[in-house]
Amino acid sequence: MFVCICNAVTDKDIGSAVAEGCRSLQELREQLGVGACCGRCTGCARDALKNSLHAHAPHRLTAAGPQLAAA
Ligand code: FES
Repeated sequence: MFVCICNAVTDKDIGSAVAEGCRSLQELREQLGVGACCGRCTGCARDALKNSLHAHAPHRLTAAGPQLAAA
């Protein structure tokens, strides 16, 4: 599923970035361009990031949730 239309980024792209070490929206923006244009994808990207972090690094999640940088 496309998360960021402006930059043609899918949830699978986000999952791959997380598998390679990406841990924040800031890092997603730097690596994939997510949210760097219109910004409408930020909420969906945050959800995709949370899901990917849970799938790839569940031990890093805390009771407060993953550490997500502001978009
Ligand atoms: S949809 Fe992601 S920046 Fe526009």
